[in-house]
Amino acid sequence: MKNINPTHTSIWKKLKKNYETTKKIHMFDLFKKDQNRFKKFSLLFNNKILIDYSKNRITDSTFKLLLNLAKNLRIDIAIKAMFIGKKINQTENQAVLHIALRNIKNNPIILNGINIMHDINHILKKMEKFSNQIINSEWKGYTGKSITDIVNIGIGGSHIGQNMVVEALKPYKNHLKIHFLSNIDGTHIEDILNKILPERTLFLITSKTFKTKETIINAKNVKKWFLKISKNKKSLEKHFIAISNNEKEVNKFGINTKKNLFKIFNWINGRYSLWSAMGLIIVLSVGYNNFKKLLYGAHDMDEHFKNNTFDQNIPVILALISIWYNNFFKSETELILPYNQNLYRFSEYIQQIGMESNGKSIDRNGKKINYQTGSIIWGGVGTNYEHTFCQLIHQGTKLIPCDFIVPVTNNSTYQENNYYLIAHFLSQSQTLAFGNIKEKKYKYIDYCFNKIKNSIPYKKLIGNNPSNTILLNKITPYTLGALIAMYEHKVFIQGAILNIFSFDQWGIEYGKKITNYFFSVLKKKKNTHCDSSTNGLIKYVKNWKK
Ligand code: F6P
Repeated sequence: MKNINPTHTSIWKKLKKNYETTKKIHMFDLFKKDQNRFKKFSLLFNNKILIDYSKNRITDSTFKLLLNLAKNLRIDIAIKAMFIGKKINQTENQAVLHIALRNIKNNPIILNGINIMHDINHILKKMEKFSNQIINSEWKGYTGKSITDIVNIGIGGSHIGQNMVVEALKPYKNHLKIHFLSNIDGTHIEDILNKILPERTLFLITSKTFKTKETIINAKNVKKWFLKISKNKKSLEKHFIAISNNEKEVNKFGINTKKNLFKIFNWINGRYSLWSAMGLIIVLSVGYNNFKKLLYGAHDMDEHFKNNTFDQNIPVILALISIWYNNFFKSETELILPYNQNLYRFSEYIQQIGMESNGKSIDRNGKKINYQTGSIIWGGVGTNYEHTFCQLIHQGTKLIPCDFIVPVTNNSTYQENNYYLIAHFLSQSQTLAFGNIKEKKYKYIDYCFNKIKNSIPYKKLIGNNPSNTILLNKITPYTLGALIAMYEHKVFIQGAILNIFSFDQWGIEYGKKITNYFFSVLKKKKNTHCDSSTNGLIKYVKNWKK
């Protein structure tokens, strides 16, 4: 990967100039001038996902310049480097190969001289066999009864994506009841333990490192609770499964690593791991065949991403549009707005992918960055968000680019509702773009400075708020896989252009370590040597705990 400060390139300077003129243009005019705008600025993915990026504040020349930015920064080299397993996660000295996990056509992928597809396929087979045993009630718990509940114990990348997919694919779910235990807050564990019977529950401990405090403490508590009832250490074998890279720690925990460990690899990052054994909970929830379809969808998006020129490349175009707002319009945030109840965790997932990957301020040369990197990503589910923060996007002072995500069909019996839902999404994206301006010869600047005097200002919506619209024909495992992979690659391209390392997370790692210190302090093992604020807080905590 090249190490180029994007802001020092001539193309960046041209984009800056372009911004000075484009910022004064209203989308209303862009659409009026060009009847072909939708056709020109939309792309269809396998006739299943439509990406309409025409409602953005870009002109033809902006678009050309953005594409040239990607070309000049040799983003093609970055893409190739990822696909051939170069160690692009340089600060952790690792390749980044989540694309291998969904390499469904099984083309060899060589890493350190070894075709990693053998190991991947071996684990997939193990996942298939195991999940079939559980789903078909062949696997029995320690009292001889079948499994009815699965608890996934994990956090961050070992939880969020899996949870989002399980929820999104609810219509494909089988009879097993799925629970996610992530928070160290004791109320979370209590909530879940109150709902399950140990003899009928399987626990998946999902932790790449098997050292994350939240996960390990929760897992230890669950084990204690379980053994108190089963009263037999051997019973653990029927109920505790580990998904990890740390065999030693799994063994120490008391899990049989030969039978009950599903390995994940060094070259998979937590937040990109739902395609690996970390996705076992997905397989258990919707079955192996549906999991494979999820992989297929992601794989087809990988192929699209790898093979298409930038002007036809969905993740690249979405990344460039984000950079346009983040670095030129200086918009601080991006909104993810799925109009689908089952996608209610989607924005949280994209938040993790985007913010954990691109929340960096040191460039790939080790230098402090003096331009903006990752945006703040937030979201809500349509239509509920329309009744919370939507007003601010329409009439507030901030520019907030939005991604609308709308599945057009579903199997609900309430089809009329679905029409209303889509009508809502259309009304929001249209109004955000064009406001409620009726003037025929409308000009944005005229309006802002002159016409506002002649109307009721409080009721005017001036529009010009940008959005992408992502229309899915339906949420299926295939389309969901493609959608997730699309965002993964978008985030990677943003990072590649902004010259940062997107696959480490040292900020979080440090936070994890420092927690141990404060735990000891709270348990009185250590004295505090902190700032007066932290010392003062600790004093109160200790007093109130008494
Ligand atoms: O959230 C921070 C993080 O380090 C993620 O990168 C990772 O997915 C998560 O913690 C959990 O880590 P582990 O799988 O090792 O428990």
